[in-house]
Amino acid sequence: MAQLWGGRFTKETDAQVYAFNASIGFDQRLYRQDIKGSIAHATMLGKQGIVTEAEEAAIVQGLKGILADVESGKLVIDSKYEDIHSFVEANLIDRIGDAGKKLHTGRSRNDQVALDMRLYTRDQVEEVDTLLKELLQVILQTMEENTETYMPGFTHLQKAQPITLAHHYGAYFEMFKRDRLRMKDIYARMNYCPLGAGALAGTTYPLDREMTAELLGFAGPTLNSMDSVSDRDYLIEFLSALSTIMMHLSRFCEEIIIWNSNEYQFVEIDDAFSTGSSIMPQKKNPDIAELVRGKTGRVYGALMSLLTTMKGIPLAYNKDMQEDKEMAFDAMDTVKDCLVLFTGMLATMKFRKERMAASAMNGFTNATDAADYLVGKGVPFRDAHGIIGRLVLYCIEKNTSIDALSLEELQTISDKFGEDIYDAVSLKTCVEKRLTIGAPGPEAMKKVIAANKAYLEQ
Ligand code: ARG
Repeated sequence: MAQLWGGRFTKETDAQVYAFNASIGFDQRLYRQDIKGSIAHATMLGKQGIVTEAEEAAIVQGLKGILADVESGKLVIDSKYEDIHSFVEANLIDRIGDAGKKLHTGRSRNDQVALDMRLYTRDQVEEVDTLLKELLQVILQTMEENTETYMPGFTHLQKAQPITLAHHYGAYFEMFKRDRLRMKDIYARMNYCPLGAGALAGTTYPLDREMTAELLGFAGPTLNSMDSVSDRDYLIEFLSALSTIMMHLSRFCEEIIIWNSNEYQFVEIDDAFSTGSSIMPQKKNPDIAELVRGKTGRVYGALMSLLTTMKGIPLAYNKDMQEDKEMAFDAMDTVKDCLVLFTGMLATMKFRKERMAASAMNGFTNATDAADYLVGKGVPFRDAHGIIGRLVLYCIEKNTSIDALSLEELQTISDKFGEDIYDAVSLKTCVEKRLTIGAPGPEAMKKVIAANKAYLEQ
């Protein structure tokens, strides 16, 4: 046991209490942020004359030495310390002696941990944004190559109207683009520095909070010291955005699992991203897609956990807030892993375009277009809907499709049908005519693709 706070105690901490209270097991991943924050704090203390220039130099050098030694593996983070803050401070004192004892002047672990967590999360926001961008690039490439790859579009998982693969992927482009916009918003909102808030009420030392904020790349200092040490909103926002990313990934995975099924066979997942069965030799399973779908639960769990932890906490810092870390870290790791693997799976997945087009041709995906054809011949839409409904029933009974019927057969249902019906209900026409912005028609899609491209190049 090695603590920062033994002075007012007359007994050793109970070993189980110590272990229950300690956070070093999971907050050690904050060592970089802790050292970076301490360097900024010491630099400011020096400039303000709160420590001497020599002391400042010794502290900064000592901290840089600790960082280098941890990174190289020469210094192992020791679990005998209560938390990462204690570990760094104790090491500094070992290295440079009394000057090291001055580092914590005008600082509390409350503002220190608030800063560390914020710095860590801010980096994670950027990393997730980069991974989202890579995913968007893969999606966009598939869109560019598939503006005329026909497939059925579904509602209720029933074939509805024909679309293209570019159009289907375009829906996911929009989702992940919004996820990136959320990263940008979260970054801007969280980018204020809590350092200098002290335990809760600021300090009596003449700290320059603007300076530390600037040294650490923040837009400025936070404006209320109580809020500074007890705010985890940014983390909740981030976990919420991560949950939304997982929801999007999970939906996409669900579709890929369906597309990859024996019944559909729209896609083939690359061998490198599939797994086999220990008993059934024929199997090639979409485990990666299933795992990404499955891992959505633990990310939602992290969000619910932190929301629940925070809801009963009076101002300002309370130890409950130490619970902000483990599940949040797990969520961040999980989402990054899922993005990397999902992007890899997507980039290598092959499409069975003939099967997709064949599937779009049956299931009466052109029924709406057949009704619209009759509208063009002067039939009111509600009547046209009824006529085509009867036509579909006729086809189901004869096990055929609208476009396979002879003109004579069509005319027994309505005398408005002419030779031009075949072109009107062909797959190509059904898709190409959908030209409003956001629709699957290739000309409309190309405009959206160009806009998406410009967005990714920004
Ligand atoms: N390990 C603590 C946490 O993660 C650090 C802050 C401790 N502050 C305190 N007053 N006990 O929240």
